Amino acid sequence: AALWCVLPAAGIGQRMAADRPKQYLPLQGRTLLEVTLQRLHQAFPASPLYIPLHPQDHWWPAAAERLQQHCPNLQLVPVPGGQERADSVLSALQALEGLAAADDWVLVHDVARPCVTPTDLHNLWSQLHHHPVGGLLAAPVADTMKRSDAQNQVLGTVDRQQLWHALTPQIFRYGLLKAALQQALQQGLTITDEASALEAAGYQPLLVTGRRDNIKITHPEDLPLAELLLQSQQQ
Ligand code: C5P
Repeated sequence: AALWCVLPAAGIGQRMAADRPKQYLPLQGRTLLEVTLQRLHQAFPASPLYIPLHPQDHWWPAAAERLQQHCPNLQLVPVPGGQERADSVLSALQALEGLAAADDWVLVHDVARPCVTPTDLHNLWSQLHHHPVGGLLAAPVADTMKRSDAQNQVLGTVDRQQLWHALTPQIFRYGLLKAALQQALQQGLTITDEASALEAAGYQPLLVTGRRDNIKITHPEDLPLAELLLQSQQQ
């Protein structure tokens, strides 16, 4: 089965409060988006990258041109993004109609996670490519976890043995993922990752242990942290 990559990049990065969408903030002398896309391309050189973009995104053409110069064999397919992340992913899946077979794989990775390592990408693929459904990179929770009421008063401690941080990439069979996302959106469910759509449809995605430093750039202080993490990975 073929592997198709989807890298949602249609968010506006509101929590970043920057002068541009967060995926175009500088990282390693380039942009966050370029660093992430190049990592995915290096891990899966034969897979085209489908990129949901905001309709008013005027930063994309220059970034795409620089990427294409770096990686001449990279196949970039921009598609229109949607209101929420799940709509953006579904838009890419619709663009794959007629190209992808039902049991092909779709890998979805947040452009906002530039620190994913080649090793984690390799582990995810090698542990899942015979799985009937799919799964995701996830990191075991290290802190003690509390549940609270609305006034921040502790109601109890949650057993962390079975708690994980859900990361990306997540990879699922094309047919299952498209049906699950469509169904979840029709039902008005809040879907913040692909796995939750599959779960709502009754499937059990597999968790593949990944590194905790595969952080999602969300707040301004995350960017210098990503810079340090990338530097330390290159040593
Ligand atoms: O906002 P958040 O950090 O959860 O976004 C995760 C990823 O989803 C980002 O890469 C962002 O660009 C993308 N996204 C999208 N379409 C949206 C909202 C977010 O492609 N409507």
